[in-house]
Amino acid sequence: MDFSIKAPDKAPSLNAEKTGCLALGVFENQKLPQLTKALDRAGDIAAALRSGDISGKAGSTLLLRQPKGFAAERLLLVGLGKDDAIADKDFSQAASAIASAFATLGAKDAIVALPLSDVKGRELGWALRQCVAAVHDKSYRSDAMKSKKDAAAEGVRKIALAVTPDAATSARAALAQAQAIARGVTLARDLGNLPGNVCTPTYLAATARKLAKSHRLGVEVLDRKQIEALKMGSFLSVAKGSDEPPKFIVLKYQGGPAREAPTVLVGKGLTFDAGGISLKPGAGMDEMKFDMCGAAAVLGTMQAVAELKLPQNVIGIIPSCENLPSGRANKPGDVVTSMAGQTIEILNTDAEGRLLLCDALTYAERFKPAVAIDIATLTGACVTALGHHNSGLFTRHDDAHDALADELLAAGKASGDTAWRMPIEDAYQEQLKSNFADIANIGGPPAGSITAACFLERFTKKYTWAHLDIAGTAWKSGAAKGATGRPVPMLTEFLIRRSAKKPKRK
Ligand code: BES
Ligand code: MN
Ligand code: ZN
Repeated sequence: MDFSIKAPDKAPSLNAEKTGCLALGVFENQKLPQLTKALDRAGDIAAALRSGDISGKAGSTLLLRQPKGFAAERLLLVGLGKDDAIADKDFSQAASAIASAFATLGAKDAIVALPLSDVKGRELGWALRQCVAAVHDKSYRSDAMKSKKDAAAEGVRKIALAVTPDAATSARAALAQAQAIARGVTLARDLGNLPGNVCTPTYLAATARKLAKSHRLGVEVLDRKQIEALKMGSFLSVAKGSDEPPKFIVLKYQGGPAREAPTVLVGKGLTFDAGGISLKPGAGMDEMKFDMCGAAAVLGTMQAVAELKLPQNVIGIIPSCENLPSGRANKPGDVVTSMAGQTIEILNTDAEGRLLLCDALTYAERFKPAVAIDIATLTGACVTALGHHNSGLFTRHDDAHDALADELLAAGKASGDTAWRMPIEDAYQEQLKSNFADIANIGGPPAGSITAACFLERFTKKYTWAHLDIAGTAWKSGAAKGATGRPVPMLTEFLIRRSAKKPKRK
């Protein structure tokens, strides 16, 4: 898909643009946005509204062929809802209606001329991203494993987004961000959707190496022996239940001065989680191929950051293995020693994510992170608590961590990839007491997502840290089963904002 920004000197010149399709907004109650009004010299658009052929309700569409007064072959009218202060939900609906229409149109190129700056409480860049994301989403296919590919995305391949000249520069920057995010989301979705027998830890490592080559990142892939040498006894205890070799992947993007503290992203990379000896029930177990979506989000975000050449340092860490029952697998009651030296009693082998992450978070100390964020499909309890709308956000509750939490929440809101903050308190830590080791790996049924976060908290004392539980947001079940690519938009937006806040160096 080819996107560009078009900034005509005078809006009415859009009448003279030769294009396969010009998409214009209309409102309910027969009203027209200023831009549409200015272009509707022949009055056909107003007439279409009067005729009742299009209601103007958000997402309603009407296609007019060979419109009078336009060089465009078609006009696509799209409803933006009630009035000129456009609600963001209405705009999103309009964007996805345009994307749907474009996907099946005979036209190859199009111009979108919507009032991008008139969305209530949002900036032009947000509206632009909605358009780009909707088009990417509509053309997304998960047919990598199908012998007969799904029908290729047809329709419009080239889209120009029209803005006023004064907005051209910021629109171009916003477009670059929108595309980097959309491509990062696509990478994360592709990885998530691949089956566990293809997307193994080795495959994730190969993907990281490819990314490193194409985007000039540093990469290190540690194998079992090297992981043993680091004394990651907790991670290895999960890995040893499977014949598939574990990998510990480190990606380094250096966009800032070498000595500047990096943001570290740690992604849970369980390429399949059967639960181990504490075996999961069979129904829906296939969805545990998505247990590497944290890792996929790290790869997608690293790609976006590198594409945007953000002026800061980012490190991605991915501990990856399978969690299977076998003669060598962890057993309930086993005690293992983490890289940090803390001993862990494994009361449930299905609480394996934290066993990987604790060692990865200890490893992260060597980078002296400015902040570290782990991303994990960690608990079913988080799905119970927050459903599929918000990721769970956990941090400690001091000033530095409140500030980090606020940054992540704001990035989530801005990108439409939201999180909800949950508590970490000593009272919950009590639930992780073990009679035989320093800590147990489960805290019982109450507050399962919080005790999981409390477990991780014990391994992150040396830096500012946040934990994102994406169990409810990383993929969809049912007819729309598939990875969402979340939280790549939130994380990329977070890093974009951090880059913007930095004082410009001479
Ligand atoms: N990967 C799962 C979490 C999960 C479960 C995500 C269902 C999405 C849907 C994780 O490894 C796990 O199995 N967690 C257990 C923890 C429990 C044993 C304390 C869970 O949530 O059931
Ligand atoms: Mn599990
Ligand atoms: Zn898991």
